[in-house]
Amino acid sequence: MTGHKRLFIKTYGCQMNVYDSERMAETLGAQGYVLTDKADDADMVLLNTCHIREKAAEKVYSDLGRLKPLKAEKPDLKIGVAGCVAQAEGAEIQRRMPLVDLVVGPQAYHRLPEMLARVDAGEKALDTDFPPEDKFEHLPKLRTRSAPSAFLTVQEGCDKFCAFCVVPYTRGAEVSRPVDRLMTEARDLAARGVREITLLGQNVNAWHGDAAGRGLGWLIREMAGIEGIARIRYTTSHPNDMDDDLIAAHGDCAALMPYLHLPVQSGSDRILKAMNRKHTAEQYLRLIERIRAARPDIVLTSDFIVGFPGETDTDFEATMDLVRAVGYGMAYSFKYSARPGTPAAEKTPVAPEIADDRLHRLQALLTEQQRACQESMVGREVGVLYEKPGRLPGQMSGKSDHLHAVHVDDPDGKVGELVRVRITAAAPNSLAAVRIGS
Ligand code: SAH
Ligand code: SF4
Ligand code: F3S
Repeated sequence: MTGHKRLFIKTYGCQMNVYDSERMAETLGAQGYVLTDKADDADMVLLNTCHIREKAAEKVYSDLGRLKPLKAEKPDLKIGVAGCVAQAEGAEIQRRMPLVDLVVGPQAYHRLPEMLARVDAGEKALDTDFPPEDKFEHLPKLRTRSAPSAFLTVQEGCDKFCAFCVVPYTRGAEVSRPVDRLMTEARDLAARGVREITLLGQNVNAWHGDAAGRGLGWLIREMAGIEGIARIRYTTSHPNDMDDDLIAAHGDCAALMPYLHLPVQSGSDRILKAMNRKHTAEQYLRLIERIRAARPDIVLTSDFIVGFPGETDTDFEATMDLVRAVGYGMAYSFKYSARPGTPAAEKTPVAPEIADDRLHRLQALLTEQQRACQESMVGREVGVLYEKPGRLPGQMSGKSDHLHAVHVDDPDGKVGELVRVRITAAAPNSLAAVRIGS
């Protein structure tokens, strides 16, 4: 009997990991694995991990601990660790957790088939290289996903070296994928019924083509020309890489959605400098003005770190002031977590209770702004791309142009339809709407 082997993948961290998990599933699919959503049924468990904060990284070890009884019961079960913890900790993972058969970094997963062969032969496998070949060139072409919205990684790695961040170490140097490969992948997605593409990169707006003048704005316009592609988004961007052409695209490219995630981390110039962010609060605010001039209804979101080493009450108040000045649709805020190997980890941390208190205050303000943004949508007409049936019968749910979750009363609605709706009510995390057109 041959039959299929079952693969369970758990994905932690950012959208780049979501994209990578899909690519790994396809690579292993070519080896006879089909996805299962139950770890208990699996012949192989793969954890695609995140190293960004200590808690995220430690979670991997507790999840591995929980796999011990399963491995004891099924000695043939293969356990793999991929992603940024794999890259950062390498062989240490197998020392700490001997049940792990395979450790693969984010730039080496096209080599999974060879690694599996080694595991089948009873060896342990470890690959955390940054190989010279392009992993994307070595992945199977088929994409298994058929949802109306898809991720497409256009850029990987980061050269910014913010003082707190592990990404330049775990993902390596900034690399832009070539135009022809990206256009082929985007056309392939469109042919499969994808209507919305979210371009991904740790520093996605640093993407550039090999000819002068080809930045992310250019790529977005090219992709907007593909038949079937109605919506384009991109994430995550660094303020210093928002060039004029990309800002202009927000005004003149109809497929580019009115939503931008533009992390600022802090509103204090002193802290921004210590973080090595290479811009001031004022420069960020001027940039926001230019973006809003191009697209007045754009929803802006951000990331913040509180309790960065040396942050005083005055610094924190500057962050609160910046948040008030911008008015975000949503934002993530994190308590600073010291990461091994980063420059900031050498500095004296802010007392945890002070950091907790600041985080609390910042989150309260951000929640208030999020609610105001949701409420400002009531009465407006927007587009919604249906992603799944809604919770109630006769409803469809999907994302608005501004990336709000919307439940639409539409008994005849179908997944993949892009419709016009009028927003009728706002709840804290979603909007209600009625369909007014197609
Ligand atoms: N490339 C993106 C985001 C990278 S990680 C950017 O430049 O903004 C996502 C977010 O995690 C960051 O924006 C930051 O807010 C947060 N983060 C990164 N390192 C962190 C750390 N050591 N402690 C707490 N939060 C961190
Ligand atoms: Fe990390 Fe900074 Fe690079 Fe973002 S820009 S990935 S925060 S080093
Ligand atoms: Fe985490 Fe790596 Fe993404 S550290 S946030 S999974 S790039």
